[in-house]
Amino acid sequence: MNKKLVITIDGPAGAGKSTVSRILAEKLGYIYLDTGALYRGLAYKAVQLGMPLDDISRLCDLCSNTTVSLNNSNGKMKVSVDGEDVEDKIRTEEIGMAASKISTFAVVREKLLNLQREAGADGGIVAEGRDMGSVVFPDADYKFYLDATLDERINRRHKELQSKGNSQEMESISKVMLARDQQDKGRVLAPLKPPEGAIIINSDYLSIDEVVDHIISDISKKTPK
Ligand code: DC
Repeated sequence: MNKKLVITIDGPAGAGKSTVSRILAEKLGYIYLDTGALYRGLAYKAVQLGMPLDDISRLCDLCSNTTVSLNNSNGKMKVSVDGEDVEDKIRTEEIGMAASKISTFAVVREKLLNLQREAGADGGIVAEGRDMGSVVFPDADYKFYLDATLDERINRRHKELQSKGNSQEMESISKVMLARDQQDKGRVLAPLKPPEGAIIINSDYLSIDEVVDHIISDISKKTPK
């Protein structure tokens, strides 16, 4: 494969996008772009400031007064907010929910759009998020939509939290995941849905490696754009 492709992977929270995208990017020698981290970075600052997450004028100020940047760190684009590496601070359910809330606003989506497009300008990228194939890279060479049932995603999140020593009740995980699904799928701007032309993969009965193999096999069967 000589051409440096743009590969997009969209899907709901807990479907395995991040792990699959990271491994796929490593295998192809591509950059891995986790766009949720950009929304989380901005949300982290909003939460630190204690501002209401639905106050449009405060969100406009936040967007004008915040520098969000991406730096390539061994093939993964790391997010900095006002020069601070926020990677270790943004992986909580609270920040995930806050990111989902602020991502419904146009000013937030517009602020982060060019940054994402610039990262993919030369190809050689696996970009993961909610609107990769529909809005950010509509001309991507390959588009995938990684899905799993709500129950399976709740189970996975439960196991993941347990492995980090954070045992949260299934019920509370389920509540947060449902709320995030509704918010991400129901919003007016760039709602989460399978983009046109995407290959849909349900990962309920597939391991991470099987999903990655599935994607690599699809890529090798189809001619890129
Ligand atoms: O993928 P994640 O859980 O890190 O994403 C956090 C939130 O950010 C997600 O619930 C909605 C928002 N998001 C988005 O609106 N568009 C993207 N491309 C990525 C994330």
